[in-house]
Amino acid sequence: MSEILRLSGVFKSYDGKNNVLKNIDLKIEKGEFIGIIGQSGSGKSTLLNIIGALDTPSKGEIYFDGENISYYDSEKRAQFRNKNIGFVFQFHFLLPQFSVMENILIPSWIESGKDSHEKEEEVLNILKDMELEEIAYRDSQNISGGQQQRIAIARALLNKPRIVLADEPTGNLDSKTSAQIYNLLRKINKKYSTTFLIVTHNPEIAALCDRVIEISDGIIK
Ligand SMILES: Nc1ncnc2c1ncn2[C@@H]1O[C@H](COP(=O)(O)OP(=O)(O)OP(=O)(O)O)[C@@H](O)[C@H]1O
Ligand SMILES: [Mg+2]
Repeated sequence: MSEILRLSGVFKSYDGKNNVLKNIDLKIEKGEFIGIIGQSGSGKSTLLNIIGALDTPSKGEIYFDGENISYYDSEKRAQFRNKNIGFVFQFHFLLPQFSVMENILIPSWIESGKDSHEKEEEVLNILKDMELEEIAYRDSQNISGGQQQRIAIARALLNKPRIVLADEPTGNLDSKTSAQIYNLLRKINKKYSTTFLIVTHNPEIAALCDRVIEISDGIIK
């Protein structure tokens, strides 16, 4: 296995005084499927935001495929994210006034304009994989919570990212739907060697990960 991501001495402060992440060192191999656990407020989402270049560290270095991405400007960070990162956010952010298909396509409209039949085919393939093709053109507010979460995952997968960062993808879902979502992520992980970092409060999901990282008050235990 080879390294895809390395954090070295990473600190994050939002107010310039208190550090929310404290001297994080972390090395992740290509294709790893990692669970991140820790209490509310321990710094899990902050860590994902920094790894995904949504935010920058206050101090320290982040290397992606050997390249130091820590202090890219916002434009370079956006390019980097589009190319490499798929996000499944803690709150899934589907836009209710758009269909399922439109919600999945929105990021690619931003990248390459609105006319793309090819992309629509790809979305249908992903939805088929998830056994969700029958809801492709439904209003996104008229589907279940578990389906919404899987649509948010489909959106994250569309550009075939190298890393998927998922912030509680099974939060608020029953155990059967949680298991379905886990199986789906694992399938993608195996099929494309996509690296996964998954924040979870669910011990059953954590137990199925290749490795679990525990954060406590901004420190990796
Ligand atoms: N944008 C922000 N500005 C200021 N403080 C923030 C910001 N985002 C997070 N924090 C603070 O940083 C700390 C870590 O927050 P973070 O969101 O990373 O925690 P978390 O582990 O994801 O928690 P949860 O499990 O509740 O989602 C918390 O004390 C939080 O209040
Ligand atoms: Mg969080």
